[in-house]
Amino acid sequence: MGSGGGARPEVSGIEPVQKQFGRTAAAYVESATHARGEDLDRIVALATEHGGERVVDVGTGVGHTLRRVAPSFRGAVGVDATREMLEAGVGVLAGAGVTNALLVQANAAALPIASGAADVVTSRLAAHHFVDAAGAFREIARILRPGGLFVLVDNYAPDEAELQRFINQLETLRDPSHVRNHTVAGWRKLLERSGMRTTVDSDAVTKLTTEDWLERSQTPADRAEEVRRRLRTAPPSAVDAFQITPTTFAVRKLILLGRT
Ligand SMILES: C[S@@+](CC[C@H](N)C(=O)[O-])C[C@H]1O[C@@H](n2cnc3c(N)ncnc32)[C@H](O)[C@@H]1O
Repeated sequence: MGSGGGARPEVSGIEPVQKQFGRTAAAYVESATHARGEDLDRIVALATEHGGERVVDVGTGVGHTLRRVAPSFRGAVGVDATREMLEAGVGVLAGAGVTNALLVQANAAALPIASGAADVVTSRLAAHHFVDAAGAFREIARILRPGGLFVLVDNYAPDEAELQRFINQLETLRDPSHVRNHTVAGWRKLLERSGMRTTVDSDAVTKLTTEDWLERSQTPADRAEEVRRRLRTAPPSAVDAFQITPTTFAVRKLILLGRT
């Protein structure tokens, strides 16, 4: 296992992501939302079932998905824009006894991986941060071999425009590197434009404790207060859609398959 962190020049457009995740990397090692979950079990089952020699995990963060999928493949690569996340990932992989994974610092929209080299690509809870999600999915389609499988796990927004605005504004207040929770149709369209055929596998709910969620992102006090105010004064449609309580709320996440 090695880390390519620092070897690559920073890529323009991803600085907000690098700034945000650079200062919060440690929190992701223990984050329950990231370290475990049925979606994580499912992504591992799907990747393993498909099988092959090589798996690539895009937006690998500290490597929670990578440490689980790598043992089913001969070689594994985790790609992430943020050096500090990859540095924390070295410890996560070592702790899990993973010895066949390479960590590489790169933008998802410019993957330093040969065309057709991957049997399976995974990406979990990262694509809503991609500045160029369409470009990232084109790259993922390029590095997959014909007959390869892409498993995307990410949050999605409801179809109603005002609920899309509510959740995306809330996420951006909390973390300025948030780009967009697309709708299910929006995520599918982005993957299909890259040439992949899509199937929805399943969806799930992530229940978030508001204060833990704000703390993980180290949201500045004034923005955190605005997040709390919006949750307190949310319209009934948002209270219902996001299961808002005085201390928690929920977002829906999707497992979407793309085939080349
Ligand atoms: C929440 S973390 C990922 C969680 C991880 N996949 C897991 O399963 O625990 C999101 C990651 O996406 C990365 N990221 C965001 N935009 C990116 C981009 N354009 N290219 C590569 N990585 C990106 C961030 O650096 C961050 O480490």
